Amino acid sequence: MPASYGRKREMGLLDHKVAVLTGAGRGIGRACALAFVKEGCSVVINDVDEAPAAEARGACENIRGGAAIVHLGSVANPADTDALMQTAAAKFGKLDILINNAGITRDKVAHQMSDEWWDLVIDVNLTGTFNCIRSAAPHLRDVAKRELESYGRPAYHRKIVNFFSTAAIRGNPGQINYTAAKMGNVGITRTIAQEWGRFWVNCNAVAPGFTNTRLTAPKQPGDELGVPDEQRQATIARIPLGRIGEPEDVANAVLFFASPMSDFVTGQTLNVSGGMQIP
Ligand SMILES: NC(=O)c1ccc[n+]([C@@H]2O[C@H](COP(=O)([O-])OP(=O)(O)OC[C@H]3O[C@@H](n4cnc5c(N)ncnc54)[C@H](O)[C@@H]3O)[C@@H](O)[C@H]2O)c1
Repeated sequence: MPASYGRKREMGLLDHKVAVLTGAGRGIGRACALAFVKEGCSVVINDVDEAPAAEARGACENIRGGAAIVHLGSVANPADTDALMQTAAAKFGKLDILINNAGITRDKVAHQMSDEWWDLVIDVNLTGTFNCIRSAAPHLRDVAKRELESYGRPAYHRKIVNFFSTAAIRGNPGQINYTAAKMGNVGITRTIAQEWGRFWVNCNAVAPGFTNTRLTAPKQPGDELGVPDEQRQATIARIPLGRIGEPEDVANAVLFFASPMSDFVTGQTLNVSGGMQIP
């Protein structure tokens, strides 16, 4: 019987679950951490920046019953991602959900793109997803495999949610590194869905549209992140639902993929874009 049947109103969608969320000190990842804690989940907040990660942990702990810890480190470093998953298991006893949210931009048109910025954006946005999935394998895949062998089926569905982007779907001038990395995450999503499906590890991906975070803040001269204001306004004007997305809009979709509501959904991609990119 699907897990949603018989759910009591006072229960959380993620009661007794443990999640690792990468890049959760700010923006969409932070909103996901808050949404998860509200639904009863214990969360490990990963980021490279200590202060925002500590702030996000405090915000999670302010939610009644919220359990949150911080683990600093880069998803681009496999030693860091191994340690991240081990921290979740050591602190909370297991790992059920992996949210591969960490991402950065370094924008330049193709003929001016440096090796350094190409490598950095691929390392964080694409290799980072792979590193986290491989590091999580003992906790998500191998545990479920032992359950399958012992009891004939895994105990429940474990979840991975990856991130890509509507900018990557349509292509985006100035983002050859970012669009390549993000579409790579679609391939990873479909591959893991097939490799780990029989272990009931569901793997899906969300594509945020234009969402209100520091990645889309008005760019000042000399800024590495952000979007020039004219381009920003033009992008918002193209959104059929008539407004920029908020981090909570994306967190709601991530929550669906992390929760038992999506137990029979895997290998899928969902645009959370106010209709900006259809499909
Ligand atoms: N904001 C948008 O419009 C938009 C659109 C499409 C996709 N996305 C994607 O959504 C995800 C979240 O983006 P956001 O807008 O919330 O950005 P953000 O900059 O607000 O937050 C990203 C977080 O990731 C952290 N981070 C960066 N490099 C890291 C690393 N190597 N290891 C661990 N953490 C690292 C940053 O410190 C930051 O706190 C990203 O994957 C991004 O590419 C965002």
